[in-house]
Amino acid sequence: MKFFIDTADIGEIRKAYEMGCVDGVTTNPSLLAKVGRGLEETIREICSIVDGPVSAECVSLEAPELIKEGRTLAKIHDNVVVKIPMGTEGMKAVKALTAEGIRTNVTLVFSANQALLCAKAGATYVSPFVGRLDDISQDGMELIAHIIEIYGNYDFTTQVLVASVRNPIHVLQAARMGADVATLPFSVINQLAQHPLTDIGIKKFLADWEKVPKK
Ligand code: E4P
Repeated sequence: MKFFIDTADIGEIRKAYEMGCVDGVTTNPSLLAKVGRGLEETIREICSIVDGPVSAECVSLEAPELIKEGRTLAKIHDNVVVKIPMGTEGMKAVKALTAEGIRTNVTLVFSANQALLCAKAGATYVSPFVGRLDDISQDGMELIAHIIEIYGNYDFTTQVLVASVRNPIHVLQAARMGADVATLPFSVINQLAQHPLTDIGIKKFLADWEKVPKK
């Protein structure tokens, strides 16, 4: 399973990249607002650090504008993947951009039927938001299982990108289900490395090392 980092924070991207666990990056307008930087300069800088897919999101609502915006974003760097919001206009944009060889990532997907449409339209990635479904008492990871099953039934090539990940259990379940990608907040990447027995073990080894003769 590939790991993308879900952030527009350059410091976080650098740190996670150094750990060798960043295959790509996803951004959205909320993440850009959080760091207070413009889209184009941020995407350019991310692409100079990470050699992998970098999702940049469109904010138009109608297909012709989405297509225009998608073309502009794709020109920023070869690694840019154009993020398109789910919907009928979005599907038109995905079909048109795909025909031009521009990669797309459909965002804000909350049902298996939406994911089916994304595959039919030729999306490169589909982003089901598991955490936001959990927030309204629906099982986000069950949606991932359904999408993987459906895509497998028909050999669709659209990659399942598990988004809105909130904790390590989401990551574990995504990996067990064989999801193609999970996009993780920096905090969750750090959580993956933690285990209380690891900390206890390090403390004990260091204490015992003090008792070992040094020459
Ligand atoms: C995915 O591409 C989105 O940027 C992201 O995963 C949304 O996560 P949130 O629900 O924590 O905002």
